Amino acid sequence: MNTHHPWTTRAETSTDIATIRQITLAAFDRAEEADLVDALRRDPAWIADLSILALDDNGIPAGYALLTRAHIGDTAALCLGPCAVLPRYQKTGAGSAAISAGLDAARAMGEHFVTVLGHADYYPRFGFTRAAAHGVGMTMPVPEEALMVLSLDGEPVPRGVIRYAEAFGDI
Ligand SMILES: CC(C)(COP(=O)(O)OP(=O)(O)OC[C@H]1O[C@@H](n2cnc3c(N)ncnc32)[C@H](O)[C@@H]1OP(=O)(O)O)[C@@H](O)C(=O)NCCC(=O)NCCS
Repeated sequence: MNTHHPWTTRAETSTDIATIRQITLAAFDRAEEADLVDALRRDPAWIADLSILALDDNGIPAGYALLTRAHIGDTAALCLGPCAVLPRYQKTGAGSAAISAGLDAARAMGEHFVTVLGHADYYPRFGFTRAAAHGVGMTMPVPEEALMVLSLDGEPVPRGVIRYAEAFGDI
């Protein structure tokens, strides 16, 4: 079902922090990803303008996407995730709205590359392709199709191993 809500998107403000935690807890039905968002908020990798909410036509925050600083080898890049949508709003475009807005904001900031580790049948719609095809990998073994990368401006993706923010732990 896609009810085509006219989603609006914006960067988080200090009053959204509890809401973002609620969305992330509900979407994943566990605390790990919500705790990760809160740990990233205290990490130097945090970029306030790239913590994005999607709100429905009543102004209710339903979707969330986060981009934080990462590196591919020595090249600055962004890591997309966690992405989360309140269960009752899933598959109605909130995730896509938040992710697209985050990618647009990153492009406007002059960022070049974004990595994501997630559903292989979801992220290609935003232009992500398999990281392995670009010689991009992780230190930890992951399903090859789950690790994807995007060039925001057509610049060739550098080869290398992704280095994540410390808050991600040993991935
Ligand atoms: C994954 C998630 C962020 C997508 O956001 P969304 O608002 O539900 O998705 P959208 O409405 O933008 O897009 C709908 C599409 O996403 C697909 N999709 C939704 N959840 C998916 C999932 N878990 N795996 C694969 N595809 C998924 C739908 O099948 C639909 O595909 P279609 O357009 O080809 O029919 C959201 O469903 C969510 O929070 N899920 C639970 C937490 C999660 O898995 N987060 C991402 C970790 S990588």
